[in-house]
Amino acid sequence: MFKTSILVLLSFLNFANSQNWIRSGYWYSGSEFPVSHINSRLFTHLVCAFAYINSSTYEIYIKVSDEPYMSTFTETVTSKNPSAKTLLSIWAGEANSVGEENSSMFFDMINQSSHRTSFIESSIVAARRHGFMGLDLSYVLPTTPANMANMGSFFTEWREAINLEPRKYDTPPLILTMGAMYSPVMDSLIYPVDDIKRNCDWVHMRSFDYHTSSKDRFTGAHAALYDPSSNLNTDYGINEWIRRGLPAKKLVVGLPYHGYAWTLVNSDDYAIGAPAKGMALTKDGSVSYRYLKWQLNYHGVKPVFNSTYVGNYCKIGSSWISFDDVEAIKTKVSYAKEKGLLGYNVFQIPNDDMDWILSTTAQEEANNQENKQQLLVIVLSATLAAMILVSATICFMKRKSIILKGKAVWSKRNKYTNQQGFTFAQIATATDNFSSENKLGEGGFGPVYKGELQNRLQIAVKRLSKGSKQGIEELKNELALTARLQHFNLVKVLGICTEREEQMLIYEYMPNGSLDKYLFDPVKSLCLDWQKRVQIIDGITQGLLYLQVYSVVTIIHRDLKASNILLDKEMKPKISDFGIAKVFEKDENAASTRRIIGTYGYIPPEYVKGGVYSRKYDVYSFGVLLLQIISGKKTSSLYGLQKNLNLLEHAYELWKKDSSMDFMDPMLDDSSSTCKMKRCMQVALLCVQERWEDRPSMLEVSSMLKNETENLPAPNMPAFSTCKRSDGEKICDLMEVCSASMLTITQEMPR
Ligand SMILES: *[C@@H]1O[C@H](CO)[C@@H](O)[C@H](O)[C@H]1NC(C)=O
Ligand SMILES: *[C@@H]1O[C@H](CO)[C@@H](O)[C@H](O)[C@H]1NC(C)=O
Ligand SMILES: *[C@@H]1O[C@H](CO)[C@@H](O)[C@H](O)[C@H]1NC(C)=O
Ligand SMILES: *[C@@H]1O[C@H](CO)[C@@H](O)[C@H](O)[C@H]1NC(C)=O
Repeated sequence: MFKTSILVLLSFLNFANSQNWIRSGYWYSGSEFPVSHINSRLFTHLVCAFAYINSSTYEIYIKVSDEPYMSTFTETVTSKNPSAKTLLSIWAGEANSVGEENSSMFFDMINQSSHRTSFIESSIVAARRHGFMGLDLSYVLPTTPANMANMGSFFTEWREAINLEPRKYDTPPLILTMGAMYSPVMDSLIYPVDDIKRNCDWVHMRSFDYHTSSKDRFTGAHAALYDPSSNLNTDYGINEWIRRGLPAKKLVVGLPYHGYAWTLVNSDDYAIGAPAKGMALTKDGSVSYRYLKWQLNYHGVKPVFNSTYVGNYCKIGSSWISFDDVEAIKTKVSYAKEKGLLGYNVFQIPNDDMDWILSTTAQEEANNQENKQQLLVIVLSATLAAMILVSATICFMKRKSIILKGKAVWSKRNKYTNQQGFTFAQIATATDNFSSENKLGEGGFGPVYKGELQNRLQIAVKRLSKGSKQGIEELKNELALTARLQHFNLVKVLGICTEREEQMLIYEYMPNGSLDKYLFDPVKSLCLDWQKRVQIIDGITQGLLYLQVYSVVTIIHRDLKASNILLDKEMKPKISDFGIAKVFEKDENAASTRRIIGTYGYIPPEYVKGGVYSRKYDVYSFGVLLLQIISGKKTSSLYGLQKNLNLLEHAYELWKKDSSMDFMDPMLDDSSSTCKMKRCMQVALLCVQERWEDRPSMLEVSSMLKNETENLPAPNMPAFSTCKRSDGEKICDLMEVCSASMLTITQEMPR
């Protein structure tokens, strides 16, 4: 009896520790989300995207700019989760074709045996060189029967090569997976299901993007699990795959961490299937869950869950958004378990919110389902001893309490305001009743005071002017956004005080004040030798990189300028006021009267001219700041022999004439530093280029500044160079800045 109990217990534990359930997720380098921030414990498999196919050799290659992230991907994610497996995903085309459903190059490649060999050999070499444990072929659509026949041979050869690869005895063969459409049959064309079944370890289903706002003129469930009126749904696709011969145990359902936003024709008609005019919120209508969540909080909107389709929907103004929230993810995971699928695949990991709520939900739901199945096994098992039942129940209860605990922590963290509240009396005492001696200055919100708490901690208090209408909202914004942003190069928000109709923000105190006080002062600037400036540049870069990743980068309108860079006692920089967001007005009609937050000189041209908020907004501001740090020059003055050039033009002219040293602050000496002023200037000029697409990303900027030997491209003309008549008078003045109206957000996402 005891023996059987042990056996049952063992098999039960084995079951609980089910290794056969895949929790996979994509990381796309274009997301610019640092790999080190991925919570890899939530996944069993991490897919690194993308390698591309070279159109002349048909070998695969990794973009030079991706190389540093991809070559360390495995090491980085396994440092948090040693059992995580990594796969290198190959886009079925060249680097410039990401997002297009055009795999013509892939079909060219599989058309000839020698090309297939080049591809296959190079893929194995690339995977092994970078420590990946598998290969994934990204979404290829089914096309002609000839192509599909080639695809069959291709998979067979790929698998053969993988099996024949000479390996050390303890190295398992590479995993081989394929990203496929939600259904094996599209427009009566069909994937080579048998070959896929025989050669692939599993299939990542693209079970989303059924309806998109760029395609459909009506609102739709973009990732419906069921759809009573059409075959465009995941359940249909899964049944079709199984019917065509792919075992359920080779199917991995896709969980989208993005949704689509439509502009409604009539904002009172917002059912599923309502008429729509096209995209909303972003350039292509796709919105990340992270961004959406911020929008929902900002507007106080609660999405509805439609259990017929299994999807969440919400309306913000005249925008209608279809996406998967916690309920939808839960239902889909539980469906996948019941259907006997192999697992789920997240597309893409960086779009989850800051607390990994979707990934956590998916993981917990799978565990819950396993627990349920385990209980069933226990109940049905004839040999089940009472002892086992009791211990299993205890085990089950324990799990539950852990989950509950997790939830409690989550809701507590949300209540940042309570945790960080200060009383009016505390602040009044700290600032000596807001005495004028303690006044540090006057910011956009109102006066700023220095103070000292009873525990001797020095603080800076921003006291919002009473009657400031913007105040409350901005205070809330700043808090909501900053409470969770913690980085050495960001000024720490300690809390707020809202007693007695006061609106105060309490920050850590920065003894050396702001950067502009040093840069533009002939005497004080002497304190900033080149080494200190390099430290400042590096700190700002790190702070910005962090913000771009952790904050909802595409929407926060940060005001990065010299006066917002504060210096601590070691002259290390910290960015302040980074959380001030002002994006969507509650009433969209008010958009044209929107006040532009930002300082002329630091605002990129696409925003000034068209109100386009590009991903490279901050990069531009950073470039301007960098020029100021190396030159000590302001943006508000004119330069050059005729005093007709703005700062950017002046820098560019000198750089072109190869007399960039004339631009630098003459007091600076970079001879003993590996970071050279000239290089900084070139990076800065790359950042302030007219077209935002030409500007490097912050990640690239960071690497350009660190890596002294890497060759830099030559910058194009900087922004605002044409804003000038021949007589040198500026025509792009402040008025034009204020009239910028519609705000679009550009956000790129491969689908
Ligand atoms: C493709 O391969 C050719 C020949 O080796 C090479 O010259 C070219 O730079 C490669 N293209 C890319 C995008 O890597
Ligand atoms: C796909 O790309 C190829 C070039 O790589 C082009 O010739 C072809 O027209 C494209 N097809 C579609 C449908 O866009
Ligand atoms: C390769 O492509 C050519 C031209 O499209 C075609 O004639 C040929 O049959 C294809 N070969 C195979 C093996 O599909
Ligand atoms: C889901 O949406 C459809 C279409 O708007 C509606 O007919 C249906 O009643 C909704 N179902 C639920 C359960 O909300």
